[in-house]
Amino acid sequence: MKNLISMRDLSKDEILHLMDIAGEIEKGNIVPDMQRKLAALLFFEPSTRTMFSFDTAMKRMNGNTVIMSGTKNTSAQKGESFADTLLTIAQYADIIIMRSPIEGSSRYAAEVVDIPVVNAGDGANQHPTQALLDLYSIVKTQGTLENLTIGLAGDLRFGRTVHSLAQAMALFGAKFKFFSPSFLQMPSYIKDDLAEKNIQFEECPELDGNLDDLDILYVTRVQRERFADPEEYEKARGSYILRKSMLDGVKDNLRVMHPLPRVDEIHTDVDVTQYAYYFQQAKNGVYTRQAIISILMGEV
Ligand code: CP
Repeated sequence: MKNLISMRDLSKDEILHLMDIAGEIEKGNIVPDMQRKLAALLFFEPSTRTMFSFDTAMKRMNGNTVIMSGTKNTSAQKGESFADTLLTIAQYADIIIMRSPIEGSSRYAAEVVDIPVVNAGDGANQHPTQALLDLYSIVKTQGTLENLTIGLAGDLRFGRTVHSLAQAMALFGAKFKFFSPSFLQMPSYIKDDLAEKNIQFEECPELDGNLDDLDILYVTRVQRERFADPEEYEKARGSYILRKSMLDGVKDNLRVMHPLPRVDEIHTDVDVTQYAYYFQQAKNGVYTRQAIISILMGEV
């Protein structure tokens, strides 16, 4: 693994190795040392969890970070090209962690620089480090990644986290239920990919009454920033809201996950149930991202 750009680039063995390393880091059995290493966090889209958990991960390993939040105070304002910006930052940093609204931008960056590049989200395309922390959370709560029934709910069209997660869980024989309004359905290219791998999936009209066989219910927000028309966003928003009352009769092991931020798609009355796992999931992001950085930097 030289870069981490898409879940499609990872084998099942590589994923399982990364899960093992994250587990050992969480237990304190592996303590990677990033002293004198610098991570450049280039975020051209807003972020709370991804940016702060990468920053935390690096600092927990005694490493350092520099952060670019947007281009406002940078020489991009003077007309510097993206390639020249990347080539310059690569003179200072040992790894680039990058979020951009432009699909494919991380892969492009990996072609330009010769230090590792991590995709921290590229448009509606991929969010592989989120998928890896999601997998780590699934292993921790279910004891396995194999043969689970996963519900994916919300904005499956623009939600990059569900694209990465569906591709990853397909490697482990998951069965899927998709819950979304018709105009926010899972893209055909993902469904074709699942069908090619003989992965079962069904599109369900509503959450209520369809949750009893799930091991994981993964809820996502409607991605307002991807809608050209605000009226379309208002129509979609609030179309799927999970409430505590809908969880009567679900399996004991069900865990409700969400990449966060949440808007209104999980009612706060779910937070106090045994099923809510979204804030622990965010915490798991630090161990997973420590593992990702350590592996890419050849420290473990
Ligand atoms: N899950 C996630 O990507 O959150 P942020 O947008 O806050 O980084």
